Amino acid sequence: MPAVVLVGAQWGDEGKGKATDLLGSRVDYVVKFNGGNNAGHTVVIGDEKYALHLLPSGILSPGVVPVIANGVVVDIEVLFEELDALNARGVDTSRLLVSSSAHVIAGYHRTVDKVTERFLGKRRIGTTGRGIGPAYADKINRVGIRIADLFDPKILRAKVEGALDQKNHLLVKVYNRRAVDVDATVDELLAHAERLQPMVADTGLVLNQALDAGKTVLFEGGQATMLDVDHGTYPFVTSSNATAGGAVTGSGVGPTRIDSIIGVIKAYTTRVGEGPFPTELFDDSGEYLRKAGGEYGVTTGRPRRTGWYDAVIARYASRVNGLTDLVVTKLDILTGLDKVPVCVAYDVDGTRYDEMPDDQTAFHHAKPIYEEFPGWWEDISKARTIEDLPANAQAYLRALEDMSGCRISAVGVGPRRDEIIGVHDLVHPR
Ligand code: GDP
Ligand code: IMO
Ligand code: MG
Repeated sequence: MPAVVLVGAQWGDEGKGKATDLLGSRVDYVVKFNGGNNAGHTVVIGDEKYALHLLPSGILSPGVVPVIANGVVVDIEVLFEELDALNARGVDTSRLLVSSSAHVIAGYHRTVDKVTERFLGKRRIGTTGRGIGPAYADKINRVGIRIADLFDPKILRAKVEGALDQKNHLLVKVYNRRAVDVDATVDELLAHAERLQPMVADTGLVLNQALDAGKTVLFEGGQATMLDVDHGTYPFVTSSNATAGGAVTGSGVGPTRIDSIIGVIKAYTTRVGEGPFPTELFDDSGEYLRKAGGEYGVTTGRPRRTGWYDAVIARYASRVNGLTDLVVTKLDILTGLDKVPVCVAYDVDGTRYDEMPDDQTAFHHAKPIYEEFPGWWEDISKARTIEDLPANAQAYLRALEDMSGCRISAVGVGPRRDEIIGVHDLVHPR
């Protein structure tokens, strides 16, 4: 009855969608436990490409029950847009379950997200503008709206009034905006309530019973370790726990039930939005990685910032998530480089850091200390075992494994489902 958690080890877009899809035929449930439609997970099946934002990638696997668990923030309009688009492409979405305790993103969350970013100016986070931060802020502030509230219009109205009480003062007096109307907001939230109701469940109970019955559950993380609100590069983070612990609080499945924790990591590094990024490249190599890797955001279309692999971050991700397995993606993008640098440690004003600095100023000042590995030129997209890879690519992977503190269990050599090297089984009991 394995329960498997899958998380991003860097700043997102590591290929979590592809890795989840890879396991689709082996699992019974795929659970989204954090974030919302700030995510953009790409799955390529044959010639078809899917971009999933709010829905777990498991929705594309026939027979899998996709679950939006309590830790997610749900934009209901987006949920139905995404479901309709998948239905139009012939995907059966009828098994989807949505937690009654998940919080709702309302129009005013999107408004506040955009207005605060503008107000922050140079200090902005570079959010996706989807209302994620304000929705989680309301949750923590205890003025959030939950899915269950949509089925009691009286309570819903009272809660919307409560949520808008302070916000309207802020919008009008500080941000010079129009106040948000309570009735219009209630109508907007109720518009899809009837359609939503049959999908709503006590998903924590469902998942625990599934594990009791010997089913396999995969928890698909959104965002990533370095965007985690506790363990990431705060304040340049998202507003949820994207690390493995989030799978527990975000689903109602206890930590003792988790068997393995997979970290998905690119063979280089990318980041979207603002914030520190020690191995970021501003030269031709950076542009090369962006072009070759197609590094443009799935959600906002923004060019992703690019840089070399950072083993300090990999070690940190292994530690804070308790990783049991690493899936290294996009090794194929490094093909054709003369030398492949890897950041092995940081230099901070003359002091060497082998581990992530605990101090944010030190991290902002961190200069990468690189070790260079010889590159390879052969096309590796057809490799299906490690031995199929050129010797230099094998050596590069061995070095990553040694430096990252976690075994490599699969390697991506292309975007398609079959373009993967399996090394160790990813669904395994402890
Ligand atoms: P996610 O947010 O972690 O699911 O990742 P994204 O979908 O945002 O970005 C990953 C991109 O890399 C997508 O376009 C994938 O199709 C693509 N991808 C995933 N694995 C590989 C790989 O091994 N090689 C190549 N070339 N592309 C990959
Ligand atoms: P997936 O799941 C990459 C980034 C945003 C911004 C910060 C906060 O596809 O890996 P938010 O809208 O969440 O308040 O923005 O987090 N961000 C992501 N970057 N991949 C993602 O998701 C991201 N989700 C949020 O760019 O810097
Ligand atoms: Mg993404």
